[in-house]
Amino acid sequence: MSTRNKILSLFRNHPDKYLSGQDISRLLNISRAAVWKQVKVLRELGFEIEAKSSQGYRLLVAPDLLLAAEIETDLGTRLIGQTVITHAKIDSTNILARQLAEADAIEGTVVIADQQSAGRGRLGRRWESPPEVNLYCSILLRPKIPIQQAPQLTFLSAVAVAETLNELCQLTAEVKWPNDILVDGAKIAGLLNEMNAETEQVHFVVLGVGINLNMLAEQFPTDLNYRATSVLLETGERVDRLLFLRTFLQRLDAYYLELVEEGFTPIRRRWESLCNIMNRQVEVDGGAGIMSGTVVGLDADGALRVQLDGGQVERILAGDVRLL
Ligand code: BTN
Repeated sequence: MSTRNKILSLFRNHPDKYLSGQDISRLLNISRAAVWKQVKVLRELGFEIEAKSSQGYRLLVAPDLLLAAEIETDLGTRLIGQTVITHAKIDSTNILARQLAEADAIEGTVVIADQQSAGRGRLGRRWESPPEVNLYCSILLRPKIPIQQAPQLTFLSAVAVAETLNELCQLTAEVKWPNDILVDGAKIAGLLNEMNAETEQVHFVVLGVGINLNMLAEQFPTDLNYRATSVLLETGERVDRLLFLRTFLQRLDAYYLELVEEGFTPIRRRWESLCNIMNRQVEVDGGAGIMSGTVVGLDADGALRVQLDGGQVERILAGDVRLL
């Protein structure tokens, strides 16, 4: 942990206490000049630190910033987030994560941006990425799985996002096949997972996750062809982005290791229990005409299993699914 981060965690662990420069320098085994220098840097980053003569320093306000050091510290994950790279503004976290993957970055590397100038959505769409409000995050994985199983990672990340929203923000988020997260039918998060593979084997996967946390109504694009929302719009309360991100990464880590050790079944069950169309009547436009039937589950390759009105089960690999 860097000196700056050690000072920050001392402040955070003693929220109502003044810590003298001498105490800090003794506890961290650094000079008082070094303490003063780091307090100055923290102030420049937006931390409000009170200094009272004869008593010391006290942290008053911490900015809603996503700093690598704060994300990594005591994260407690086994794989995801051992390396975290944060940027105030980049084109797209997925682009940087892919470049890092090609330059041999370690599995579990996480790229975060406060703002994206060219945030990418699915089907070549743009992902609106204003600063200071949401999460834009890409996670690099190197699973030893055949190409056909790569969609499992999409379902895994969808489950981790939806469960974090439900637990931390008391929402009832649902997953929509293949990769949206909805609250009351409005999209609150999206996933853009990109794979690099050769013949049968996956080299790496970049899990791109965009979650609308504190976005205001006027910050959404006016030309969306679906309903969109944010946690703030749903609950009226702002989310602590750092806490949300850390909780999400911890869950993702646990589920990824579970997938590696136990296979897809536990994730599939969780996904099915969060799925908005499970056991319901749907209409499917899979390219070869419109069919209707009941959704009965998910296959290991990500196909949606739909029992047609005639009784036979169809596997849907792509297409539009609408509730009837
Ligand atoms: C969708 O269209 O639903 C997918 C949206 C994915 C957005 C995220 S934000 C972080 C990562 N970087 C990107 O450029 N896109 C993904």
